[in-house]
Amino acid sequence: MHLNDDERAMLDGRDGPAVQRAMDLLVRYGEALGAERLVDTNNVCGTVGATMPFLRDYAVKHGGLDAVFSEFNLDSPDVVTVPKAKAFSSHLQQGLDPEHAQRQNVSSEIVKLYRAGEAYTARLGIQPLNTCAPYQVGNVPVKGEHCAWMESSAVIYINGVLGARTNAEGRESAGAAMLTGKIPYWGLHLDENRGATHRVELDIDVRSVQDWGLLGYYVGELVQDRIPLIDGVRHAPSLPKLKHFGAAAASSGGVEMYHVTGFTPEAPTAAAALRGARPLETIRYGAAERRLAYERVNTTGKHTQVDFVMLGCPHYSIEQIWEACQLLEGQRISANTELWIFTPKATKQLADQAGYTKLIEDAGGVLMTDTCSAIGRVMPQGTRVAAVDSAKQAHYLPAIMGIEAWFGSTAECIQAAITGRWSGGLA
Ligand code: F3S
Repeated sequence: MHLNDDERAMLDGRDGPAVQRAMDLLVRYGEALGAERLVDTNNVCGTVGATMPFLRDYAVKHGGLDAVFSEFNLDSPDVVTVPKAKAFSSHLQQGLDPEHAQRQNVSSEIVKLYRAGEAYTARLGIQPLNTCAPYQVGNVPVKGEHCAWMESSAVIYINGVLGARTNAEGRESAGAAMLTGKIPYWGLHLDENRGATHRVELDIDVRSVQDWGLLGYYVGELVQDRIPLIDGVRHAPSLPKLKHFGAAAASSGGVEMYHVTGFTPEAPTAAAALRGARPLETIRYGAAERRLAYERVNTTGKHTQVDFVMLGCPHYSIEQIWEACQLLEGQRISANTELWIFTPKATKQLADQAGYTKLIEDAGGVLMTDTCSAIGRVMPQGTRVAAVDSAKQAHYLPAIMGIEAWFGSTAECIQAAITGRWSGGLA
């Protein structure tokens, strides 16, 4: 791989051992991928610290968070002192919400480690956004901007909706990018790899957030890691709709980029999105396909008594909290059910100020930040059946936590929280 003088100097140790290890990792990674060079990035989203159990054990055994960064972010054979990040960097979701540790059944010892991780993140100059949706809270890359982001739902959002450029990075490459401001120039950084490969023609109107989640789930399973073009959308989709579409497509498949003719930045027309090529396949999506997707997402829900309603995957925007509050206002959730809503910390501050946090609490629910049930493995004790409005969470939660899950609209989920029973169905 070709390195410029600055990159070569980093590799030769000019900026210290941690940067040297980071550059060494990027060169090995880039060469394995066939990248010819690196590209500058000043927008990295990744994870550092140790909120997952095995990382906590590692930190305790090997003397702290630099040891964790050395091993898990730099693949370094020895422990190095980690300097401040060179690139503008943001932290993704964490393993718990320290403000609701007791409710999440997390011990005070683990909260202490979490706080140490927060201090470590601050020392490295990484923004503690602590969310899977950084684009909702100020980190909004622009079209053409080269980024190095982890988190599949965020990767597909910034590629597809914002026209920024990132591959789905791992903890290691994102950590190395933080310290160097570089990432291998391959995959979705290159124009020629961003064209649509599959064309999806809509025979029905796709309107609600639930509809977009179902469409994403259906398309992702069919195209896997290729790039779909959605054709025939009749109404401008909002941020939550595109967010749910992408999160679902990245879960049932490995989609990292998509186009919506007339709405996403690299698809002013279908021909532009296809870059002049013919699609490998044209897929039709109508009422039968929508029903099939619904049945595939709803494979685990069997018992109608719901113990837990989880909303906020990906983390809710302020608009979604506002919507949920309209449904909850003046209501009280069932004594047998818990309602947890997840959002970025910064959005919760808005919700506090707007009175939404109190409204949710008055109804018997709680607004949480920093984590989610699937990532943090945090649920009310004794949960057997959950209800979610996210196809992504319905895909992962039963597998990770061994529970049943119903997938439906936000209104159906709130209704389940109020009655303690699932009564949803495809309209
Ligand atoms: Fe976010 Fe958790 Fe879903 S991290 S995308 S809320 S699985």
